[in-house]
Amino acid sequence: MVVVSVIGCGECHYCKQQTWSLCDNSNPNAGLQEKIYQYPTAGIFGYSHLFGGYAGSHAEFIRVPFAEYGAFKIPEDIPDTKAVFVSDGIPTGFMAAEMASIKPGDIVAVWGAGGVGQMAIQSAYLMGAEKVIAIDRFDYRLAAAATYSHAEVLNYEATDILEALKESTGGRGPDCCIDAVGMEAHTTGMEHYYDRSKQFLRLQSDRPAVLRQAITACRKGGTVSVVGVYAGLVDKIPMGLFLNKGLTMRGGQMHGQRYVPRLFEHIRNGKIDPSFLLTHPMSLEEGAYAYRIFNDKLDNCMRAVFIPSQSFVGD
Ligand SMILES: NC(=O)c1ccc[n+]([C@@H]2O[C@H](COP(=O)([O-])OP(=O)(O)OC[C@H]3O[C@@H](n4cnc5c(N)ncnc54)[C@H](O)[C@@H]3O)[C@@H](O)[C@H]2O)c1
Repeated sequence: MVVVSVIGCGECHYCKQQTWSLCDNSNPNAGLQEKIYQYPTAGIFGYSHLFGGYAGSHAEFIRVPFAEYGAFKIPEDIPDTKAVFVSDGIPTGFMAAEMASIKPGDIVAVWGAGGVGQMAIQSAYLMGAEKVIAIDRFDYRLAAAATYSHAEVLNYEATDILEALKESTGGRGPDCCIDAVGMEAHTTGMEHYYDRSKQFLRLQSDRPAVLRQAITACRKGGTVSVVGVYAGLVDKIPMGLFLNKGLTMRGGQMHGQRYVPRLFEHIRNGKIDPSFLLTHPMSLEEGAYAYRIFNDKLDNCMRAVFIPSQSFVGD
């Protein structure tokens, strides 16, 4: 079975509309979340107390609430090494592309070439994008985006991103901009000191560098799609650009249950292939090391996948 990371009761107003991450009933800490967000959203495995305080799924066994909706039988012809990404990375990338309202021939820019960004790139092509441009600073991730997801790539440490995006879109800007980075964006220059000091002084909770850049880069009338996670308050969002350029912005935690059956189909016919994301198969005992190399982007890590009772160190 593969279990979707977002928990939905299947019976509430939101689940019935297939907006599973907005579930009214799966967050046992709804009262806590209401104090901040006004309305509670779904519980999520291994996320935080605000989202239910559920333990993570890196374990031999997990309890799956509402399993009749969130657990899916893996088709026999799809290997576990691909199916595991249907839990989170693929539906998130797919929903990012869907929210971007991509039309055939569109040019799409994707910030972040991690697992989510890579799946957003592949999904964008699936939805008819003519060209997808991936932005990151880690060459091994950009190389993967070029090789496996067929994106053009830009290293933001070596390139002026706004200029480069203008140039590769005939001066118009990308039709769709996807933020697959979120609140922990790496920042450079003055923006770095600005965002860090605001965070230090508790004047903002998140670093919205990518969101600012996406709104600025997007063509007039284009769409900004946000799946990179933000938690709270951000500063210096260019609302003037957003309004006067007539942009559309959408965001959300992914509604995995809505997508799983068709994602199996896309994997089966090769339209989506997450195999290259699994760079580090590991045992649970190697968990601390796996978290470190994922967090610090060491050893060309894209994703560590835990396979209980097996040791891969030294293999
Ligand atoms: N919305 C959802 O349902 C959902 C689900 C899963 C993950 N997420 C979120 O999606 C985001 C990406 O997840 P991931 O697993 O791919 O993470 P990841 O850490 O593997 O990848 C993030 C990438 O962003 C790059 N990056 C950092 N700053 C950047 C910048 N200024 N410009 C361009 N790239 C930059 C990093 O170098 C890194 O390669 C995270 O915020 C994660 O929490 C959202």
